Amino acid sequence: MATSMVIGTQWGDEGKGKIVDYLAEQAEFVVRSQGGNNAGHTVVVDDKAFALRLLPSGILYDGKTNVIGSGVVVDPKVLLGEIANLEKEGKSAKSLQISDRAHVILPYHNRLDEAEELSKGDLKIGTTKNGIGPCYADKVNRVGIRICDLMDEDVFKEKLAYNVKVKNKMLTAVYGVDPVDYDTILKDYLGYAEKLRPYVTDTNFTVVDAVKSGKKVLFEGAQATMLDLDHGTYPFVTSSHPVAGGASVGSGVGPNYLNNIVGVVKAYSTRVGAGPFPSELLDETGDYLRETGHEFGTVTGRPRRTGWLDLKVVSYAADLNSLDYLAITRLDILDQLPEVKICVGYTKNGQEVKGFPASLKELEACEPVYETLPGWQTDISGIRTYEELPEAARRYVERIAEVTGVKLGIVSVGPNRNQTIVLE
Ligand code: GTP
Repeated sequence: MATSMVIGTQWGDEGKGKIVDYLAEQAEFVVRSQGGNNAGHTVVVDDKAFALRLLPSGILYDGKTNVIGSGVVVDPKVLLGEIANLEKEGKSAKSLQISDRAHVILPYHNRLDEAEELSKGDLKIGTTKNGIGPCYADKVNRVGIRICDLMDEDVFKEKLAYNVKVKNKMLTAVYGVDPVDYDTILKDYLGYAEKLRPYVTDTNFTVVDAVKSGKKVLFEGAQATMLDLDHGTYPFVTSSHPVAGGASVGSGVGPNYLNNIVGVVKAYSTRVGAGPFPSELLDETGDYLRETGHEFGTVTGRPRRTGWLDLKVVSYAADLNSLDYLAITRLDILDQLPEVKICVGYTKNGQEVKGFPASLKELEACEPVYETLPGWQTDISGIRTYEELPEAARRYVERIAEVTGVKLGIVSVGPNRNQTIVLE
Protein backbone atom coordinates (compact mmCIF):
# COMPACT_ATOMS: atom_id res chain seq x y z
CA MET A 1 0.00 0.00 0.00
CA ALA A 2 1.43 3.33 -1.03
CA THR A 3 0.29 5.74 1.65
CA SER A 4 2.47 7.69 4.05
CA MET A 5 1.76 10.14 6.82
CA VAL A 6 3.68 12.85 8.65
CA ILE A 7 2.86 13.46 12.31
CA GLY A 8 4.31 15.91 14.84
CA THR A 9 5.35 14.01 17.96
CA GLN A 10 5.83 16.95 20.33
CA TRP A 11 4.14 20.36 20.72
CA GLY A 12 4.41 21.49 17.09
CA ASP A 13 7.09 23.44 15.24
CA GLU A 14 9.07 20.21 14.81
CA GLY A 15 9.86 21.02 11.19
CA LYS A 16 7.07 18.89 9.73
CA GLY A 17 6.94 21.21 6.73
CA LYS A 18 10.36 20.12 5.54
CA ILE A 19 9.63 16.40 5.97
CA VAL A 20 6.24 16.76 4.28
CA ASP A 21 7.91 18.60 1.44
CA TYR A 22 10.52 15.87 1.09
CA LEU A 23 7.88 13.12 0.99
CA ALA A 24 5.54 15.18 -1.18
CA GLU A 25 8.10 15.00 -3.96
CA GLN A 26 7.36 11.29 -4.33
CA ALA A 27 3.59 11.49 -3.69
CA GLU A 28 0.84 11.82 -6.27
CA PHE A 29 -1.77 13.06 -3.78
CA VAL A 30 -1.13 15.27 -0.74
CA VAL A 31 -3.93 15.45 1.82
CA ARG A 32 -4.61 17.77 4.79
CA SER A 33 -7.15 16.24 7.17
CA GLN A 34 -7.42 18.48 10.24
CA GLY A 35 -6.75 21.96 11.60
CA GLY A 36 -6.99 25.15 9.64
CA ASN A 37 -4.94 28.25 9.10
CA ASN A 38 -3.55 27.83 12.63
CA ALA A 39 -0.96 25.56 11.02
CA GLY A 40 2.05 27.07 9.35
CA HIS A 41 4.63 25.15 7.45
CA THR A 42 7.67 26.83 6.07
CA VAL A 43 8.95 25.07 3.00
CA VAL A 44 12.21 26.17 1.42
CA VAL A 45 12.46 25.56 -2.33
CA ASP A 46 15.60 26.78 -4.12
CA ASP A 47 16.41 29.02 -1.15
CA LYS A 48 12.97 30.62 -1.37
CA ALA A 49 10.73 30.19 1.70
CA PHE A 50 7.01 29.51 1.15
CA ALA A 51 4.69 29.95 4.12
CA LEU A 52 1.77 27.53 3.73
CA ARG A 53 -1.12 27.65 6.16
CA LEU A 54 -4.04 25.85 4.53
CA LEU A 55 -2.69 24.68 1.20
CA PRO A 56 -1.17 21.18 1.20
CA SER A 57 2.59 21.17 0.55
CA GLY A 58 2.24 19.29 -2.74
CA ILE A 59 1.00 22.56 -4.22
CA LEU A 60 4.63 23.59 -4.75
CA TYR A 61 5.08 20.76 -7.27
CA ASP A 62 3.51 20.20 -10.67
CA GLY A 63 1.36 17.18 -11.38
CA LYS A 64 0.06 16.40 -7.89
CA THR A 65 -3.47 16.47 -6.55
CA ASN A 66 -3.76 18.50 -3.34
CA VAL A 67 -6.66 17.82 -1.02
CA ILE A 68 -8.17 19.82 1.83
CA GLY A 69 -10.15 17.07 3.54
CA SER A 70 -13.43 17.05 5.45
CA GLY A 71 -11.73 17.40 8.84
CA VAL A 72 -10.18 20.77 7.99
CA VAL A 73 -11.82 24.09 8.86
CA VAL A 74 -11.52 26.57 6.02
CA ASP A 75 -11.31 30.35 6.24
CA PRO A 76 -12.19 31.24 2.62
CA LYS A 77 -10.54 34.64 2.75
CA VAL A 78 -7.27 33.20 4.04
CA LEU A 79 -7.34 30.36 1.51
CA LEU A 80 -8.01 32.70 -1.41
CA GLY A 81 -5.19 34.96 -0.21
CA GLU A 82 -2.83 32.01 -0.10
CA ILE A 83 -3.84 30.97 -3.62
CA ALA A 84 -3.26 34.54 -4.85
CA ASN A 85 0.22 34.60 -3.23
CA LEU A 86 1.11 31.33 -4.87
CA GLU A 87 0.03 32.62 -8.27
CA LYS A 88 2.10 35.75 -7.74
CA GLU A 89 5.15 33.47 -7.45
CA GLY A 90 4.29 31.84 -10.78
CA LYS A 91 2.80 28.67 -9.26
CA SER A 92 -0.74 27.38 -9.80
CA ALA A 93 -3.43 26.07 -7.43
CA LYS A 94 -5.28 24.19 -10.19
CA SER A 95 -4.55 20.86 -8.56
CA LEU A 96 -6.44 21.83 -5.39
CA GLN A 97 -9.56 20.00 -4.24
CA ILE A 98 -11.60 21.18 -1.23
CA SER A 99 -13.95 18.81 0.58
CA ASP A 100 -17.62 19.75 0.38
CA ARG A 101 -17.86 18.43 3.96
CA ALA A 102 -15.19 20.76 5.41
CA HIS A 103 -16.51 23.43 7.78
CA VAL A 104 -16.30 27.14 7.06
CA ILE A 105 -14.82 29.74 9.42
CA LEU A 106 -16.99 32.85 9.61
CA PRO A 107 -16.22 36.28 11.11
CA TYR A 108 -18.22 35.51 14.27
CA HIS A 109 -15.83 32.60 14.94
CA ASN A 110 -12.84 34.96 14.94
CA ARG A 111 -14.63 37.44 17.15
CA LEU A 112 -15.75 34.74 19.59
CA ASP A 113 -12.24 33.28 19.68
CA GLU A 114 -10.82 36.62 20.74
CA ALA A 115 -13.61 37.43 23.21
CA GLU A 116 -13.52 33.97 24.85
CA GLU A 117 -9.76 34.08 25.20
CA LEU A 118 -9.87 37.55 26.78
CA SER A 119 -12.53 36.48 29.27
CA LYS A 120 -10.49 33.49 30.46
CA GLY A 121 -7.79 35.36 32.39
CA ASP A 122 -5.35 32.78 33.78
CA LEU A 123 -7.09 29.98 31.89
CA LYS A 124 -6.05 31.57 28.61
CA ILE A 125 -4.98 28.95 26.08
CA GLY A 126 -2.98 31.16 23.73
CA THR A 127 -5.07 30.41 20.64
CA THR A 128 -4.13 31.93 17.29
CA LYS A 129 -7.50 33.79 17.35
CA ASN A 130 -8.23 32.54 13.86
CA GLY A 131 -11.66 31.24 14.84
CA ILE A 132 -10.60 27.60 14.62
CA GLY A 133 -11.86 26.51 18.07
CA PRO A 134 -15.30 28.19 17.78
CA CYS A 135 -15.69 26.74 14.27
CA TYR A 136 -15.00 23.19 15.52
CA ALA A 137 -17.33 23.87 18.47
CA ASP A 138 -20.14 24.69 16.01
CA LYS A 139 -19.35 21.53 14.06
CA VAL A 140 -19.73 19.42 17.22
CA ASN A 141 -22.81 21.41 18.21
CA ARG A 142 -24.25 20.66 14.73
CA VAL A 143 -24.83 24.29 13.81
CA GLY A 144 -21.75 24.66 11.62
CA ILE A 145 -21.78 25.77 8.00
CA ARG A 146 -20.05 23.40 5.61
CA ILE A 147 -18.50 24.13 2.24
CA CYS A 148 -21.47 22.37 0.55
CA ASP A 149 -23.80 24.80 2.39
CA LEU A 150 -21.73 27.76 1.24
CA MET A 151 -22.11 26.53 -2.34
CA ASP A 152 -25.93 26.69 -2.06
CA GLU A 153 -27.09 30.28 -1.61
CA ASP A 154 -30.47 29.41 -0.05
CA VAL A 155 -29.04 26.99 2.48
CA PHE A 156 -26.22 29.39 3.30
CA LYS A 157 -28.58 32.31 3.90
CA GLU A 158 -30.73 30.29 6.25
CA LYS A 159 -27.84 28.85 8.29
CA LEU A 160 -26.03 32.19 8.40
CA ALA A 161 -29.16 34.01 9.64
CA TYR A 162 -29.56 31.55 12.51
CA ASN A 163 -25.89 31.70 13.48
CA VAL A 164 -25.59 35.48 13.29
CA LYS A 165 -28.67 35.83 15.51
CA VAL A 166 -27.33 33.47 18.20
CA LYS A 167 -23.69 34.57 17.99
CA ASN A 168 -24.55 38.25 18.20
CA LYS A 169 -26.39 37.60 21.44
CA MET A 170 -23.30 35.92 22.82
CA LEU A 171 -20.95 38.57 21.54
CA THR A 172 -22.92 41.48 22.95
CA ALA A 173 -24.66 40.13 26.04
CA VAL A 174 -22.04 37.66 27.29
CA TYR A 175 -18.78 39.20 26.14
CA GLY A 176 -19.78 42.84 25.67
CA VAL A 177 -18.15 43.17 22.24
CA ASP A 178 -19.48 44.38 18.89
CA PRO A 179 -21.91 42.19 16.93
CA VAL A 180 -21.20 41.02 13.36
CA ASP A 181 -23.22 42.22 10.36
CA TYR A 182 -25.29 39.66 8.44
CA ASP A 183 -25.41 41.59 5.14
CA THR A 184 -21.66 42.18 5.01
CA ILE A 185 -20.90 38.53 5.73
CA LEU A 186 -23.45 37.36 3.17
CA LYS A 187 -22.03 39.57 0.44
CA ASP A 188 -18.39 38.69 1.18
CA TYR A 189 -19.01 34.95 1.50
CA LEU A 190 -21.12 34.66 -1.65
CA GLY A 191 -18.19 36.28 -3.42
CA TYR A 192 -15.73 33.79 -1.89
CA ALA A 193 -18.09 30.93 -2.79
CA GLU A 194 -17.86 31.70 -6.49
CA LYS A 195 -14.08 31.85 -6.37
CA LEU A 196 -13.84 28.57 -4.43
CA ARG A 197 -16.48 26.66 -6.42
CA PRO A 198 -14.08 25.23 -9.04
CA TYR A 199 -12.08 23.51 -6.30
CA VAL A 200 -15.00 22.01 -4.32
CA THR A 201 -15.72 18.31 -4.65
CA ASP A 202 -16.29 15.05 -2.77
CA THR A 203 -12.69 14.58 -1.70
CA ASN A 204 -13.50 11.44 0.31
CA PHE A 205 -14.08 9.77 -3.03
CA THR A 206 -10.88 11.25 -4.50
CA VAL A 207 -8.72 9.99 -1.63
CA VAL A 208 -10.27 6.53 -1.25
CA ASP A 209 -10.15 6.00 -4.99
CA ALA A 210 -6.48 7.05 -5.08
CA VAL A 211 -5.57 4.75 -2.19
CA LYS A 212 -7.48 1.78 -3.62
CA SER A 213 -5.91 2.17 -7.02
CA GLY A 214 -2.42 2.11 -5.51
CA LYS A 215 -1.55 5.79 -6.02
CA LYS A 216 1.00 7.33 -3.67
CA VAL A 217 -0.94 9.35 -1.11
CA LEU A 218 0.71 11.50 1.56
CA PHE A 219 -1.30 12.59 4.59
CA GLU A 220 0.24 15.77 5.88
CA GLY A 221 -0.22 16.42 9.59
CA ALA A 222 -0.63 19.84 11.15
CA GLN A 223 -0.02 20.70 14.83
CA ALA A 224 1.18 17.74 16.87
CA THR A 225 0.41 14.85 19.18
CA MET A 226 0.70 16.78 22.46
CA LEU A 227 -1.82 19.27 21.07
CA ASP A 228 -4.41 16.58 20.28
CA LEU A 229 -7.84 17.38 21.68
CA ASP A 230 -8.18 13.98 23.43
CA HIS A 231 -4.59 13.00 24.08
CA GLY A 232 -2.62 16.23 24.49
CA THR A 233 -2.10 18.43 27.53
CA TYR A 234 -5.76 19.53 27.68
CA PRO A 235 -6.89 22.35 27.72
CA PHE A 236 -3.65 23.65 26.19
CA VAL A 237 -4.41 21.83 22.97
CA THR A 238 -5.84 22.43 19.53
CA SER A 239 -9.49 21.73 18.67
CA SER A 240 -8.87 18.80 16.31
CA HIS A 241 -7.07 15.46 16.18
CA PRO A 242 -3.50 15.72 14.90
CA VAL A 243 -2.87 12.03 15.78
CA ALA A 244 -2.77 9.43 12.99
CA GLY A 245 -6.37 8.33 13.62
CA GLY A 246 -7.48 11.89 12.87
CA ALA A 247 -6.24 11.52 9.31
CA SER A 248 -8.58 8.58 8.80
CA VAL A 249 -11.60 10.48 10.11
CA GLY A 250 -10.64 13.78 8.50
CA SER A 251 -10.09 12.46 5.01
CA GLY A 252 -12.60 9.63 4.86
CA VAL A 253 -10.32 6.60 4.55
CA GLY A 254 -10.39 3.57 6.83
CA PRO A 255 -7.42 2.98 9.19
CA ASN A 256 -6.27 -0.15 7.36
CA TYR A 257 -5.34 2.00 4.39
CA LEU A 258 -2.87 4.04 6.41
CA ASN A 259 0.77 3.06 6.69
CA ASN A 260 4.34 4.42 6.66
CA ILE A 261 3.50 6.73 9.52
CA VAL A 262 6.45 9.04 10.10
CA GLY A 263 6.82 10.81 13.46
CA VAL A 264 8.73 14.08 13.26
CA VAL A 265 10.92 14.64 16.31
CA LYS A 266 12.76 17.88 16.87
CA ALA A 267 16.14 17.05 18.46
CA TYR A 268 15.15 19.14 21.52
CA SER A 269 11.80 20.36 22.89
CA THR A 270 9.91 23.60 22.49
CA ARG A 271 6.47 24.71 23.46
CA VAL A 272 4.46 27.87 22.93
CA GLY A 273 2.34 29.42 25.65
CA ALA A 274 1.27 27.99 28.98
CA GLY A 275 1.09 24.38 30.23
CA PRO A 276 3.39 21.89 31.94
CA PHE A 277 6.75 21.16 30.26
CA PRO A 278 8.78 18.72 32.42
CA SER A 279 12.09 18.96 30.49
CA GLU A 280 12.02 22.76 30.22
CA LEU A 281 15.37 24.55 30.55
CA LEU A 282 15.19 27.90 32.29
CA ASP A 283 18.96 28.43 32.09
CA GLU A 284 21.65 29.37 29.56
CA THR A 285 21.24 26.12 27.65
CA GLY A 286 17.57 26.99 27.20
CA ASP A 287 18.57 30.45 25.93
CA TYR A 288 21.17 28.87 23.68
CA LEU A 289 18.58 26.58 22.08
CA ARG A 290 16.17 29.51 21.63
CA GLU A 291 18.79 31.75 20.02
CA THR A 292 20.54 29.13 17.89
CA GLY A 293 17.24 27.55 16.83
CA HIS A 294 15.52 30.94 16.27
CA GLU A 295 12.73 29.65 18.46
CA PHE A 296 10.41 32.62 18.26
CA GLY A 297 6.78 32.46 17.05
CA THR A 298 6.55 32.98 13.28
CA VAL A 299 3.54 35.27 13.52
CA THR A 300 3.75 36.68 17.05
CA GLY A 301 7.55 36.78 17.49
CA ARG A 302 6.95 35.43 21.01
CA PRO A 303 9.92 33.50 22.45
CA ARG A 304 9.21 29.77 22.61
CA ARG A 305 9.94 27.79 25.78
CA THR A 306 12.83 25.38 25.22
CA GLY A 307 14.08 22.18 26.83
CA TRP A 308 15.87 18.87 26.40
CA LEU A 309 14.33 16.23 24.19
CA ASP A 310 11.57 14.45 26.09
CA LEU A 311 11.33 10.81 25.06
CA LYS A 312 8.48 10.18 27.48
CA VAL A 313 6.51 12.46 25.16
CA VAL A 314 7.88 10.91 21.95
CA SER A 315 7.25 7.35 23.20
CA TYR A 316 3.67 8.32 24.04
CA ALA A 317 3.38 9.70 20.50
CA ALA A 318 4.89 6.50 19.09
CA ASP A 319 2.06 4.47 20.63
CA LEU A 320 -0.76 6.93 19.93
CA ASN A 321 0.18 7.15 16.27
CA SER A 322 1.56 3.62 15.70
CA LEU A 323 4.67 5.24 14.24
CA ASP A 324 6.66 3.30 11.66
CA TYR A 325 9.62 5.68 11.36
CA LEU A 326 11.19 8.67 13.05
CA ALA A 327 12.32 11.80 11.21
CA ILE A 328 14.69 13.67 13.51
CA THR A 329 14.97 17.35 12.64
CA ARG A 330 17.18 20.24 13.72
CA LEU A 331 19.98 18.01 14.91
CA ASP A 332 22.35 20.76 13.72
CA ILE A 333 21.03 23.11 16.42
CA LEU A 334 22.77 20.94 19.05
CA ASP A 335 26.11 21.07 17.17
CA GLN A 336 28.04 23.23 19.62
CA LEU A 337 26.87 21.73 22.94
CA PRO A 338 29.57 19.89 24.93
CA GLU A 339 26.97 17.43 26.19
CA VAL A 340 23.33 16.69 25.47
CA LYS A 341 20.66 15.29 27.74
CA ILE A 342 17.60 13.20 26.92
CA CYS A 343 14.65 12.75 29.22
CA VAL A 344 13.92 9.02 29.14
CA GLY A 345 11.08 8.91 31.67
CA TYR A 346 9.41 10.63 34.62
CA THR A 347 9.29 9.90 38.31
CA LYS A 348 6.79 11.11 40.87
CA ASN A 349 7.51 10.76 44.58
CA GLY A 350 10.45 8.56 43.64
CA GLN A 351 8.28 6.15 41.64
CA GLU A 352 8.50 5.62 37.88
CA VAL A 353 5.50 7.12 36.09
CA LYS A 354 3.81 4.67 33.72
CA GLY A 355 1.72 5.99 30.85
CA PHE A 356 1.21 9.72 30.43
CA PRO A 357 -0.60 11.70 33.16
CA ALA A 358 -3.96 13.24 32.19
CA SER A 359 -3.97 15.74 35.03
CA LEU A 360 -1.83 18.79 34.43
CA LYS A 361 -1.17 19.05 38.16
CA GLU A 362 0.20 15.53 38.10
CA LEU A 363 2.32 16.24 35.04
CA GLU A 364 3.64 19.37 36.73
CA ALA A 365 4.76 17.20 39.67
CA CYS A 366 6.72 14.80 37.44
CA GLU A 367 10.52 14.84 37.62
CA PRO A 368 12.34 14.11 34.37
CA VAL A 369 14.89 11.29 34.39
CA TYR A 370 17.85 12.28 32.23
CA GLU A 371 20.56 10.43 30.39
CA THR A 372 23.62 12.50 29.50
CA LEU A 373 25.39 11.88 26.22
CA PRO A 374 28.52 13.50 24.79
CA GLY A 375 28.03 16.33 22.30
CA TRP A 376 29.73 16.28 18.90
CA GLN A 377 30.86 19.91 18.68
CA THR A 378 31.11 19.72 14.90
CA ASP A 379 29.15 21.56 12.20
CA ILE A 380 27.00 18.79 10.68
CA SER A 381 24.97 20.99 8.32
CA GLY A 382 27.08 19.97 5.32
CA ILE A 383 26.92 16.23 6.02
CA ARG A 384 24.82 14.17 3.57
CA THR A 385 25.27 10.53 4.63
CA TYR A 386 24.54 8.82 7.91
CA GLU A 387 28.02 7.26 8.12
CA GLU A 388 29.67 10.69 7.92
CA LEU A 389 27.82 12.00 10.99
CA PRO A 390 30.08 12.24 14.06
CA GLU A 391 29.84 9.15 16.23
CA ALA A 392 28.30 11.13 19.12
CA ALA A 393 25.54 12.45 16.84
CA ARG A 394 24.77 8.93 15.63
CA ARG A 395 24.72 7.72 19.20
CA TYR A 396 22.22 10.46 20.10
CA VAL A 397 19.74 9.60 17.33
CA GLU A 398 20.19 5.86 17.83
CA ARG A 399 19.36 6.25 21.50
CA ILE A 400 16.14 8.01 20.48
CA ALA A 401 15.20 5.04 18.30
CA GLU A 402 16.14 2.60 21.05
CA VAL A 403 14.09 4.26 23.80
CA THR A 404 11.01 4.83 21.63
CA GLY A 405 11.25 1.49 19.85
CA VAL A 406 10.74 3.17 16.45
CA LYS A 407 13.12 2.88 13.48
CA LEU A 408 15.10 5.87 12.27
CA GLY A 409 13.97 7.01 8.83
CA ILE A 410 15.31 10.52 8.29
CA VAL A 411 17.84 12.79 9.98
CA SER A 412 17.61 16.47 9.03
CA VAL A 413 20.67 18.70 9.45
CA GLY A 414 19.40 22.01 8.06
CA PRO A 415 16.33 23.70 6.58
CA ASN A 416 17.06 22.98 2.91
CA ARG A 417 15.80 20.03 0.91
CA ASN A 418 19.30 18.69 0.35
CA GLN A 419 20.16 18.81 4.08
CA THR A 420 18.27 15.55 4.56
CA ILE A 421 19.85 12.20 5.38
CA VAL A 422 17.62 9.25 4.51
CA LEU A 423 18.42 5.94 6.15
CA GLU A 424 17.88 2.79 4.09
P1 GTP B 1 3.72 23.66 12.80
O1 GTP B 1 2.92 23.02 11.71
O2 GTP B 1 3.37 25.09 13.08
O3 GTP B 1 3.82 22.85 14.03
O4 GTP B 1 5.25 23.80 12.26
P2 GTP B 1 6.17 22.78 11.51
O5 GTP B 1 6.38 21.55 12.33
O6 GTP B 1 5.66 22.57 10.15
O7 GTP B 1 7.50 23.59 11.51
P3 GTP B 1 8.11 24.37 10.29
O8 GTP B 1 8.04 23.52 9.07
O9 GTP B 1 7.53 25.73 10.26
O10 GTP B 1 9.64 24.36 10.71
C1 GTP B 1 10.22 25.32 11.54
C2 GTP B 1 11.50 25.84 10.95
O11 GTP B 1 12.53 24.85 11.05
C3 GTP B 1 11.45 26.25 9.50
O12 GTP B 1 12.08 27.49 9.37
C4 GTP B 1 12.27 25.17 8.78
O13 GTP B 1 12.88 25.64 7.61
C5 GTP B 1 13.28 24.81 9.84
N1 GTP B 1 13.90 23.49 9.77
C6 GTP B 1 13.33 22.30 9.45
N2 GTP B 1 14.23 21.30 9.58
C7 GTP B 1 15.40 21.85 10.00
C8 GTP B 1 16.69 21.33 10.35
O14 GTP B 1 16.95 20.13 10.30
N3 GTP B 1 17.63 22.24 10.77
C9 GTP B 1 17.39 23.57 10.85
N4 GTP B 1 18.35 24.36 11.28
N5 GTP B 1 16.18 24.10 10.55
C10 GTP B 1 15.19 23.24 10.13
